[in-house]
Amino acid sequence: MSQNNSQLAALIDLSPSVAEFRASVWAGLAQHQKTIPAKFFYDREGSRLFEEICLTPEYYPTRTEKKLLADVVSEIAGLAGPGRAVLEFGSGAGVKTRALLDRLDAPAAYVPVEISRARLVEVTSELAADYPKIQIAPVCADYTKPFNLPSVAMGVAHWLGFFPGSTIGNFTPPQAVQFLSQVRRMLGTTGLMLIGVDLRKDIAVLNAAYNDAAGVTADFNLNLLTRINRELDGDFDLSQFGHSAFYEPEQGRIEMHLISRRAQSVNVAGRAFDFAADETIHTENSYKYDVDQFRCLAASAGWSHRAVWTDSDRLFSLHLLACE
Ligand code: AVJ
Repeated sequence: MSQNNSQLAALIDLSPSVAEFRASVWAGLAQHQKTIPAKFFYDREGSRLFEEICLTPEYYPTRTEKKLLADVVSEIAGLAGPGRAVLEFGSGAGVKTRALLDRLDAPAAYVPVEISRARLVEVTSELAADYPKIQIAPVCADYTKPFNLPSVAMGVAHWLGFFPGSTIGNFTPPQAVQFLSQVRRMLGTTGLMLIGVDLRKDIAVLNAAYNDAAGVTADFNLNLLTRINRELDGDFDLSQFGHSAFYEPEQGRIEMHLISRRAQSVNVAGRAFDFAADETIHTENSYKYDVDQFRCLAASAGWSHRAVWTDSDRLFSLHLLACE
């Protein structure tokens, strides 16, 4: 209960408004290649479905990264040193957070930034109960835009940014460079950044990870339309759209789309949008990088490379970056 956890600061709520969601959907559906930003997947149900994807046998990233982190977290803690405050981008279910907080030497504070307010509130109250010595200051925000740190940050001397899950892959490479530069400025000259990056690999393995046999990824993708219907007074007929995900080797990315099964017209918040048969809405990119490619990307955002770890099957990587 929050009243028993004085170390849990009040939530700072900068979550995107319905007006912002509507503006993004209207603008995205008016484009030649229709598109909706992936960050809008994560309403309550979308966060739940993503956590369910992580349990499917095909989706290797989560379980591979968890195991890798468990194997190397002591080494990371040694490199980070004592008294670091952790700033996590997209904290989700908080499982990897625990692995890190358990091993860091006297972490000064924990600041999770997460777009799903419901999930953020649940997870931070659980963490506050389990880590009574750590100051926790949750921020509900879209971290792709600049935001202010909570007041607890004023006393922080050394930051450790934490961006697991390969969510960096949702950005195009230029967007990723911009994001990493922005984070570097936030974390200051002594800052470190621990970031999970999914690796390029056999195309069949990649395609399977985004087309699980149980159809959870399809439900996750289609839930975006359910959310639009509910929050933006949309009339998408879910039976008339399908899930499509494929690896695009030129760009080195998985693309996820919603594909219209026939020619149809759909209304969103009073505006009509026409779909041809087989026309798609591009809903997500998930870029995959080789270790050296990612090192170069981070370098062009000003980060120097401290260490990198990969699992023995070379499915996934964890990079430790330093500001200086
Ligand atoms: C949470 C963005 C890392 O891109 O693999 C999973 C989201 N989309 N299955 C990813 C996702 C479809 C995931 N990230």
